Amino acid sequence: MQAAALEMLGSNLPGRTLQIACVYGEFMPKLHARVEASGGALDVVDVVQAQLDNLKRKLPVKNTVRFWNMDSSNLALPGASYDRVILFFLMHEQPFAIRQRTISEAFRVVKPGGSVVFVEFSKPKWWHPLRYIYLPLLKYFEPFAPDIWDHDDVAFWLSKPWCERIEKRRFLFGHYYQVLMVRA
Ligand SMILES: C[S@@+](CC[C@H](N)C(=O)[O-])C[C@H]1O[C@@H](n2cnc3c(N)ncnc32)[C@H](O)[C@@H]1O
Repeated sequence: MQAAALEMLGSNLPGRTLQIACVYGEFMPKLHARVEASGGALDVVDVVQAQLDNLKRKLPVKNTVRFWNMDSSNLALPGASYDRVILFFLMHEQPFAIRQRTISEAFRVVKPGGSVVFVEFSKPKWWHPLRYIYLPLLKYFEPFAPDIWDHDDVAFWLSKPWCERIEKRRFLFGHYYQVLMVRA
């Protein structure tokens, strides 16, 4: 999914990029390298300071990344100030009302014509074995994730008119996950 997200973002990432919530693995160092090679700037928001501290250790010592300890549903960031915003498996961590506020904040801070990229669970095809194997586990460990399965419609997440501006939508692994880019 990290590779799919990077592919959708493309290799040229000039301007200002905002990552809302830290991502595990190598996604952030790879994103940072692309942004830096493009002459852009990267800001990262996370509600947990320890996640930001951990990310700092994964990036080159000399970097220009700005780390913001903030709640995604209430960003103390100026409006229309980012060329792109990325939310990588954050939506399923949040109950619906908070998810809506996070989405609203992502679209507030992105510039007109900028993009918001979501990587998230989606409702698997009926035949997908993980659908039956993982559902009980998901309900226990990720209590808000099945809500995304039940309302697997981007329009449900995104209030109009955002939902009409989805440029790309891609489903992977029998619809178990989704990557989508919404043009603001
Ligand atoms: C499971 S962790 C990392 C998962 C990550 N998205 C991935 O798949 O690699 C989720 C991250 O979201 C952050 N997070 C959760 N709720 C948040 C919120 N309301 N605002 C900002 N960050 C939040 C957590 O602190 C954590 O760093």
